[in-house]
Amino acid sequence: MKIRITGNQMQEEMLQERWQKLADWHEILLSEDTHHLGADYKGWVKLPEEMVEDLIIDLVETAREIQDKCTLFIVVGIGGSFLGTRAVIDALNGSREDCPEVVFAGFNMNGAYISKLKRRIANESVCMCVISKSGRTVEPLLSYAVLKDLMFAKYGYQEARRRIYVITDEKKGDLRPEAFENQFKAFTIPGNIGGRYSVLTAVGLLPIAVAGHDIRMLLDGAKDMQKADWSADGELLRYAAGRTLLQEQGKSLEIFEYFEGNLRYFGEWLKQLFGETEGKDGKGAYPACLFFSRDLHSIGQFLQQGRQIFYETMIRIEHPAEDMEIPWYAGYPYAGKTMEQINACAENGVLQAHQKAGIPIHEIHIEELNAFTMGQMIYFFEMSAALSAYVMGVNPFDQPGVEAYKKEMQALIAEL
Ligand code: PA5
Repeated sequence: MKIRITGNQMQEEMLQERWQKLADWHEILLSEDTHHLGADYKGWVKLPEEMVEDLIIDLVETAREIQDKCTLFIVVGIGGSFLGTRAVIDALNGSREDCPEVVFAGFNMNGAYISKLKRRIANESVCMCVISKSGRTVEPLLSYAVLKDLMFAKYGYQEARRRIYVITDEKKGDLRPEAFENQFKAFTIPGNIGGRYSVLTAVGLLPIAVAGHDIRMLLDGAKDMQKADWSADGELLRYAAGRTLLQEQGKSLEIFEYFEGNLRYFGEWLKQLFGETEGKDGKGAYPACLFFSRDLHSIGQFLQQGRQIFYETMIRIEHPAEDMEIPWYAGYPYAGKTMEQINACAENGVLQAHQKAGIPIHEIHIEELNAFTMGQMIYFFEMSAALSAYVMGVNPFDQPGVEAYKKEMQALIAEL
């Protein structure tokens, strides 16, 4: 994976000073030091390398068992127990043809949405997995309660038991006793890995394997990035250095952009990763994501000439999965070229136009979209987010602000 920054007119000396601080934090994160901010939550840092082989085998075998039992796999979860998983499955173009379709629930409390799933449960062969680290989050637990009832009604207790899976904390929360009492197969989310850093645990790995994708490749990609050169003169810190500097210079929005539709949920995962990692103590850039060409014809106007409160992070796929030739018809100037050739011109055109407007842009170059590069990207952005937060002086691994709405909601529920 190559990363280069263009167009932001940042002086190398300013970046240089930043690099050293980031490299120092990188070393601390990798160390056994348990006294720094967020030290209880750095289990993800060495996870790719330390992943236990027996667990991978168990996940792959369980996925096979699920593939044999159903055509529809419902994954119930929210935030870190949902977004990364969907991001990877979507990026890899959904489930393989011979594997169950993976659909998601628990990220809303919308009766109509659950009713649609109810109809699918009635008509298809289904397995389901509920994922919640805390085992206490209202949204997924509500969906789980309804869907579990439907599963019991359709399959009867003994068979439903074999079709329901749980991924949760080892001890805490309500799902662990639930799994135990019903003898549901359960996997553990390690206590030292927070939700938004958990996609490479069973949280993401089980559903991704059910969708037919190679979780070893995913982990290998992450391991490759874990082992890459994160030193002060290495390229990788350029992004974290640039973005923290831009935020200090007053840019309050980071816009993630991609021309690949399959990355839309990766954008959602990035929103959570950066929003919850940095957005505290009045700090952080608001993370937004745009899908081009679609959004060039809506928000593109604002980017080019609107208020310059943002910087851009463009994720570029160098070799798209498929291409096709554009046919001829009278007077049509694009005939004989391919879709991706024209798409690349749009990509470079946007870059040039935005550079001319003085917009700071980081380009993240990915050779192609596959399990390995997804693993690389996941680890790259996790590390960049965590290091940026440390340099800003905030704890990357908590999200105290999320509690505020929960408190209000619980008070209102109590009045029902
Ligand atoms: O990053 C986090 O920790 C959060 O966004 C959680 O993932 C989210 O709130 C869901 O929590 P849980 O898995 O406990 O249901």
